[in-house]
Amino acid sequence: MSLLTTTKYHNPVLLEEVKQALNLQLGGRYVDCTLGTGGHSMSILEEISPGGQLLGIDADSEAIAITRERLDKYGQSLALANDNFKNLKKICVQHNFNPVNGILFDLGLSSLQLGDASRGFSFQTDGPLDMRFSLLQKLTAADIVNTTPQAKLAQLIEDYGEDYRGRQIAKRIVEERPITSTLQLAHLIRQSASKSHGKINPATKTFQALRIAVNRELGNLKTALEQSIDLLGFNGRLVVISYHSLEDRIVKDFMRREAKDCICPPLTPTCVCGHTATLKIIGKGIITPPASEIKANPRSRSAKMRIAERI
Ligand SMILES: C[S@@+](CC[C@H](N)C(=O)[O-])C[C@H]1O[C@@H](n2cnc3c(N)ncnc32)[C@H](O)[C@@H]1O
Repeated sequence: MSLLTTTKYHNPVLLEEVKQALNLQLGGRYVDCTLGTGGHSMSILEEISPGGQLLGIDADSEAIAITRERLDKYGQSLALANDNFKNLKKICVQHNFNPVNGILFDLGLSSLQLGDASRGFSFQTDGPLDMRFSLLQKLTAADIVNTTPQAKLAQLIEDYGEDYRGRQIAKRIVEERPITSTLQLAHLIRQSASKSHGKINPATKTFQALRIAVNRELGNLKTALEQSIDLLGFNGRLVVISYHSLEDRIVKDFMRREAKDCICPPLTPTCVCGHTATLKIIGKGIITPPASEIKANPRSRSAKMRIAERI
């Protein structure tokens, strides 16, 4: 089933909190780096119109197509870019979105992508081992699973899946290669990592690791965060929702570093870095969804939002 034939939209996480965090201004200019099916973008457009503008970016052409149709009524207030947010600065300059009042990242994948077996993100439905956000990209999860040397595959599962059973899983994968489908892989993981994963399906972490590797998620996030500084106008807000600790650590470290005047190593006698703070952290640490939201939308349970303001 293609995303285009799916009727439901992704349920946006922390929606009210995101609107507040962005400090939305009537007539303001905002960038949604992870458009998805436009839930956050639509609410932002409602608050900033008339006069406001929103640029929505997504690597997934199907998400762009759905949202183009869904948000059609906003006409010239909405610009869309089917691109990777690692090119954030270039995309914004091309669309004349510089400076902006706020930038939003709602990381990971949408429920539509997860629910579309042909995209290969889910270990619960059978599909090809794909996991690409962008269908233009060549590298798929099958390429990684079937060609990566065993030791490197083990490391990848341990680092990106935070799964200490990486070596066992990689060994089993290499014994059974080629692996072509999601259920085949999920089955192997279950065999090699039985019992001690508690309530979590043992495939969860390996699938997370492969998705991160296929889409170079961590590197792209770091690149885009760096670029966001130059795009934010004075008092502009940077709002990031992450769904696992690897992403959250990148966001936390980035915001903390950018909130400091000096980033020299500890015990350096005098400052040599020449760095000056570019951001002020807003709030005390992370914002998480209330119990009512988690009940209504269990996918939101791992969401962590961080906010910073350009100074
Ligand atoms: C959690 S969904 C966003 C949902 C959206 N906030 C909504 O309300 O519908 C994440 C989206 O970001 C996109 N995405 C992830 N990484 C990306 C990247 N590096 N560049 C562009 N889009 C990306 C995915 O394709 C997916 O559609």
